[in-house]
Amino acid sequence: MIDLSRRPLIVAIDGPAGAGKSSVSKILALRLDFTLVDTGAIYRCVALKAQRSGVAFDDLTGLQTLLDAVKVTFRMDVDKNHVFLDGEDVSDAIRTSEISLAASQVSGQPVVRNALLGLQRRLALAAEQGAILEGRDIGTVVFPDADIKIFLFADPSIRATRRYEELFQKGLEKPVGQVLEDQNKRDKEDSEREVAPLKPAADAVKIDSTRLPLSEVVAQIETLVSSKRVP
Ligand code: DC
Repeated sequence: MIDLSRRPLIVAIDGPAGAGKSSVSKILALRLDFTLVDTGAIYRCVALKAQRSGVAFDDLTGLQTLLDAVKVTFRMDVDKNHVFLDGEDVSDAIRTSEISLAASQVSGQPVVRNALLGLQRRLALAAEQGAILEGRDIGTVVFPDADIKIFLFADPSIRATRRYEELFQKGLEKPVGQVLEDQNKRDKEDSEREVAPLKPAADAVKIDSTRLPLSEVVAQIETLVSSKRVP
């Protein structure tokens, strides 16, 4: 049993895009009153800032200067987890297809990953009761000693359909074939990069969300959290 007086309970949720990490993490955070750290949003903020400042995604000196000054914060509302970049609400600006690909590219740079490691850990450890971190390398690199590690995955075509629906609802419709192609590119980049590639931690609980309703995924993780909490 974990003694919560020592540090917040850390729940790592890793997996590829479209597996349901964001929806599951948000619901869990609201139900458990845990802090939610959307680490993908942090990489997206860096990509947006680089794009706006004209810094190329492989310009290591430019990226380092940008990282020294970047400030990313979150505010959880009932509707969504708002993301602020240097004080500006960029929750929608970071969700475009262009920034998705850009984030995947900047996240392959060790200089970026190292600079963001401390920020991700600080945000989680500041939580009162517990923190849910969603990303690609939480259980392997950011918190290799996380209390609970989940690797959430699903068939690529189902993931692309979910992403298509999400874009459609935002009025950003794109052919589903194109969504799948972009997703394959990102999956490849995220899992084949040298530093912190997307892969399940050896001790992660793997959940296939292809045919599972969201409520079932949430229930499975909640059961794991309950088993770790001090009564
Ligand atoms: O989860 P997301 O789609 O918002 O993440 C955007 C990109 O950021 C993703 O393509 C890979 C990268 N990322 C990462 O490398 N490590 C993380 N912990 C989270 C995201």
